[in-house]
Amino acid sequence: MAKQNQLSFLTSATLLVIIVSVSETLCRPLEEEHLLKQHDEWMAIHGRIYKDAAEKAKRYEIFKENVKRINAFNNGKDVGYKLAANKFTDLTNEEFRASYTGYNRRPTSVLPSMAAKPFKYANFTAIPATLDWRTKKAVTSVKDQGACGSCWAFSAVAAMEGITMLKKGKLVSLSVQELLDCDVNGKDSGCEGGYMDSAFKFIISKGGLTTEANYPYRGNERTCDTAKTGNHTASITGYQDVPANSEKALLQAVANQPVSVAVEGGGFDFQFYSSGVFTGSCGTDIDHAVTAVGYGKTSSGTKYWLLKNSWGTGWGESGYMRIQRDVSSRTGLCGLAMNASYPTA
Ligand SMILES: *[C@@H]1O[C@H](CO)[C@@H](O)[C@H](O)[C@H]1NC(C)=O
Ligand SMILES: *[C@@H]1O[C@H](CO)[C@@H](O)[C@H](O)[C@H]1NC(C)=O
Repeated sequence: MAKQNQLSFLTSATLLVIIVSVSETLCRPLEEEHLLKQHDEWMAIHGRIYKDAAEKAKRYEIFKENVKRINAFNNGKDVGYKLAANKFTDLTNEEFRASYTGYNRRPTSVLPSMAAKPFKYANFTAIPATLDWRTKKAVTSVKDQGACGSCWAFSAVAAMEGITMLKKGKLVSLSVQELLDCDVNGKDSGCEGGYMDSAFKFIISKGGLTTEANYPYRGNERTCDTAKTGNHTASITGYQDVPANSEKALLQAVANQPVSVAVEGGGFDFQFYSSGVFTGSCGTDIDHAVTAVGYGKTSSGTKYWLLKNSWGTGWGESGYMRIQRDVSSRTGLCGLAMNASYPTA
């Protein structure tokens, strides 16, 4: 009897082991199958076509790792913002950084000479509690730089669109491509990166910028089309730097107009940011440029800046990011208070 019991125990134990291992081997392919399907769907949505099966397999592995990391983040402790798979999901963070940012952190030796100007908003105190320049029609729709390090040009153009609206009462989408193609003899180098201040300097020297409609974005550098640059719709008279490392000064500036801002935007959390107030860990190695188009405070009391990005509307909150404001570090979160500037008109 005892022997029989032992035997049946062994049998059940074996069965259990078999069941467990079967369900394990069943579970894994299920997850894999789900991810493979998700990758196929993602490819269709983003119009991605790989050159061969090897490339697809390689991209799938990256996609899978990113999705797992995004899910782990979203299922973890709620830190006030969420990540999501987006058009960058089949890129490693290194690839993403290399192709989608483009702010050249300037060594002091290349600081444009016209930058040293007094900060005109230094004594400005009539600062509204919240502000969104979009509601004042001073912000054009979100643009998409594509796989080109042209964020500097998008940032400069968005700030210029803002001041043009505020001075002339007309919101016009201006040409980023003119900067990529024509602003080539100074410190800016198209898809290889550049600076907002040198873009402003170039625009001033040429007497203005034409419209996006007249000189549309192509996503790569081409020969300067001088037939189009004769028609300068908007102009600026100068530009100024916001005193560095002061979110208070940045607030004074943003309260008056959209402002070009440099950030460290190459991190994983930045790559996949989808909603909420970004409070992620990032450094001050500023490599990306965006435009501060407002600020506010959530119902739970978190203060934020409203940033317009140039990664299309599929990234972040329809192309925008809310990022924590008034942090303890003087640089601002992700270094956003380090190299801000704005055009004057
Ligand atoms: C701000 O106020 C100070 C003190 O009155 C003055 O010296 C300075 O010129 C003012 N700055 C601006 C930009 O108006
Ligand atoms: C830009 O940032 C650098 C640090 O990266 C800083 O040394 C420099 O003063 C800043 N320049 C301006 C104009 O904000």
